Amino acid sequence: MTEDKKKGLFDQKLSRRDFLKKSGIAGAGALVGASALGGFVLPKTQEKTREADGDEKISFYGKHQAGITTSMQKNVYFVVLELEDSSKSAMKELFKDWTEYAAKLVDGQIVETESSNGYLPPKDTGEAVGLNPYRLTLTFGISRTFLKKCGLSDKEMSIFRDFPPFPKEQLEDKYTGGDIAIQACADDEQVAFHAVRNLVRKGRGKVTMKWSQSGFAAIGDRKSTPRNLFGFKDGTANATKESDFDKIVWYDGNDWLKNGSFMAVRRIRMHLETWDRTNLREQENTFGRYRDSGAPMGKTGEFDDFSWDDKDKDGNYLMPVDSHVSLANKAGKKLLRRSYSYADGINDSTGQFESGLLFIAYEKDPQQFIDVQTSLGATDKLNEYITHIGSGLFACFGGVEKGGYLGQDLFE
Ligand code: HEM
Repeated sequence: MTEDKKKGLFDQKLSRRDFLKKSGIAGAGALVGASALGGFVLPKTQEKTREADGDEKISFYGKHQAGITTSMQKNVYFVVLELEDSSKSAMKELFKDWTEYAAKLVDGQIVETESSNGYLPPKDTGEAVGLNPYRLTLTFGISRTFLKKCGLSDKEMSIFRDFPPFPKEQLEDKYTGGDIAIQACADDEQVAFHAVRNLVRKGRGKVTMKWSQSGFAAIGDRKSTPRNLFGFKDGTANATKESDFDKIVWYDGNDWLKNGSFMAVRRIRMHLETWDRTNLREQENTFGRYRDSGAPMGKTGEFDDFSWDDKDKDGNYLMPVDSHVSLANKAGKKLLRRSYSYADGINDSTGQFESGLLFIAYEKDPQQFIDVQTSLGATDKLNEYITHIGSGLFACFGGVEKGGYLGQDLFE
């Protein structure tokens, strides 16, 4: 290999696709070449589509962290970490390293310049080489225990409290709590996983993994609302306008969480077999919306305005008062939900699907989540078909400007 070629290979700002070309793994332009497919060559038009696939990037820098109000990607890889080294200096250094890594990952670059010494493990784990960024976003949050463990109790705030116990929840320790959350979303599963893997690897000796969950959403054309595993459109009532995000999502204070948001996470098991035995009318009564159109009961369009207490001319409620949407709406508090379905094989004790919803909601104040969950309470008709088994509350920092790092206002 010539010196020039070597230089190119180990160039810091090398996109993962350039890396592939420069290292000679793929012939220039021939993303899926004849050799890779055993002589099969894609028609020209298809080749073009493949080239553009996943090319779109979302910058890591900005006023707010990406991955909160960003329109949802197809996949999530979510991980909760615990501190092994809880010194403030170690955490500050880690968040600095993560900032640098995250900016490169969302840009489709390898995480670190590779050394030319083939006797060392590669710096980047490599499984995303050749892949575009696929709209990767990385969103970081810390819990109350993080503040305590790092000796930052003076940064606690009255609204950042543990959730109270909620009716019917059956939380399992292995899916609850933790100190740091990282939400990686992308339109490609491997890109999301690669990002988390490399971030966790960088944190070795400082953090360990407590729990993780991968998930998927039926994003399709990005215009229609994805359906959850119960077959209903999920996310209809979400805000989509910047002015609403200011009211619902972004933290109001002027302290270390400025421009940030709170992330409520619930791992919710969904009992698919019970649901599948339930007749359609009952399913619709459970949500208070029609399955096919997604319209609120008594209305025709998915986005028709409604209120939980709308009545027909005879004075009957249009929506069953114990339905999920009625009770959630009655709380009078808004959340920005960003949930993903999961399917984790077969439950050992029941022999049924181990699947459900990784419920993620962003709000400026955790009380918004508490009020909605309290309104759902023991009455929600959906309780028959779901069990909350995991929980977490994380404060997600404001965005990072170039030259800054994640959590800077907390650590300095
Ligand atoms: C597996 C569990 C859950 C499923 C399958 C589910 C599903 C749904 C569906 C299908 C809708 C109607 C469409 C929409 O507006 O998105 C909805 C609405 C909603 N859900 Fe859930 N949900 C679950 C858990 C939760 C939890 C834990 C909360 C918060 C505590 C929540 C809060 C809401 C809110 C605020 C709405 C909108 C209500 C309105 O229209 O005003 N959901 N959910």
